[in-house]
Amino acid sequence: MSHLDRRSFLKFLGTLSAYGVIPMSVSACEHKKWPGTENALGFKLNGIEPTDLDQVVLADGFHYDLLIRFNQEIKPNEFFGFNNDFLCFIPDEADTEQAILWVNHENVHTPFVSGRMRKTDPSKTEADLEMYHVGGSIIRLIKKDGKWTFRPGDPINRRLNAHTPIPFSGGTVISGSNIAVGTLANCAGGFTPWGTILTCEENYHDCFGERDPETGLVRSGLYRWEKVYSRPPEHYGWVVEVEPKSGKAQKHVRLGRFAHECATCTRLKDGRVVVYSGDDKDDQCLYKFISSEPDSLVEGTLYVADVDKGRWISLDIESNEKLRERFSDQLEIQINTRLAADLVGGSKLDRPEDIEIDPISGDVFVALTNNKPKKEYFGQILKISEKDGNYESLEFTAETFRTGGVESGFACPDNMAFDISGNLWFTSDMSGSSMHKEPYTKLKNNGLFVVPRFGERAGEVIQIASAPTDAEFTGPTFSSDYKTLFLSVQHPGEMSPDDLSSFTSHWPDGEGKPDPGIILITGPALEYLTHINLPEGE
Ligand code: FEO
Ligand code: CA
Ligand code: CA
Ligand code: CA
Repeated sequence: MSHLDRRSFLKFLGTLSAYGVIPMSVSACEHKKWPGTENALGFKLNGIEPTDLDQVVLADGFHYDLLIRFNQEIKPNEFFGFNNDFLCFIPDEADTEQAILWVNHENVHTPFVSGRMRKTDPSKTEADLEMYHVGGSIIRLIKKDGKWTFRPGDPINRRLNAHTPIPFSGGTVISGSNIAVGTLANCAGGFTPWGTILTCEENYHDCFGERDPETGLVRSGLYRWEKVYSRPPEHYGWVVEVEPKSGKAQKHVRLGRFAHECATCTRLKDGRVVVYSGDDKDDQCLYKFISSEPDSLVEGTLYVADVDKGRWISLDIESNEKLRERFSDQLEIQINTRLAADLVGGSKLDRPEDIEIDPISGDVFVALTNNKPKKEYFGQILKISEKDGNYESLEFTAETFRTGGVESGFACPDNMAFDISGNLWFTSDMSGSSMHKEPYTKLKNNGLFVVPRFGERAGEVIQIASAPTDAEFTGPTFSSDYKTLFLSVQHPGEMSPDDLSSFTSHWPDGEGKPDPGIILITGPALEYLTHINLPEGE
């Protein structure tokens, strides 16, 4: 991270000029004295130590405001969902004072949402309410006094949830219908070069269960919504593309069906696109999809990674005899992607989570969060370099970028984001039930971290924020000017007893029941880090 070759630097300048940023010289940036002591900037960029405070704790020079929280009315009779995760900031081309924010709602903690104890079956009223609060929200942002705020009642505001009918791409019929009812388990996502967002259905099996591909039997889901509604499990576990202005959506069959964490998209020179996606389950795989048409995800080929051999293996039925023997057609492979990936030798990874493309080097970063059965507790960030920097290539090299651990100061990397200066921001996800226990005790609450690209501390992992009790930060995303970082605060207080006799967290009010919500982080330290034309300070 401390050195940029000339080719990368020229690419970097191109990226920056696209944003209208004029960089200072790289050599000046690389050796820039870190604002760690008394300085003219008014803040010290030392990061924070792990803490167990039930608050959003921030490093010096950062501030936060609450943007929106669970169940807030977004328009008459429409409400903001639960456990917000992936966020996507969509600028308004004509008006820099307004924007749209897409928000994923990953799951529900039933005692907080419907009042249902988790081990009981839902009534129809309870299931309906829980199903309402997953999916996604589209909300209008406007700038007030220089800060982004949410505008209730705006016509753009809408919900998609587990009740919303969504067609399969290309008119595909799955389990008797070309329309699925609902999107759910929406974890991370991505966006396309043509302005749509991608929301990923991850732990869909929690909702209506999952069918065993060998026996055909359906195992019950965590929420047991199948007790109320009969829905084919095959209708979930897809990447869903949403047009943010209209809310129009489709489920993309060609990207495969598994516990999709994210869908990270990049465009080839001829307009076709490549989408990277991980299957967040112990010993599951990393995939890439290459579209066959420009600006469309409807047709194309899915590949699975063999990380040891550095190869992308096609899951096209015509390419492999093992696939032809096991599956009757391509659609059966798309529905049972895990099984197909295993047959062709996809590498079993430590739960691939978010994926981001480095804006300077073009490398593909993959968060591998942990693999507890294999005693891999801390995870790592993997760096993949496609051959000749070509995203269409079927060969790559892979190396560890950073390894989690008590010494590294972080565990279980999950969501990531690069800023305009090429700093890597990421969040940690130690689960609510494992935090404050060995081997995680010393790391205390989950956090937000940055790996600076420039300055004296380039390459170090610095903790910038700490989450409230039981919570994780998710969905980091920047405004177009990189002066605001939007961040989800997910599942505060999820370890509270189901009868709600007490709460382990009281965020954000400091008293009473906790709520998930979105914060926006601003401040001079954020601007210092995200802007390459650093202020003359130290
Ligand atoms: Fe929903 Fe893989 O985190
Ligand atoms: Ca995640
Ligand atoms: Ca991300
Ligand atoms: Ca996670």
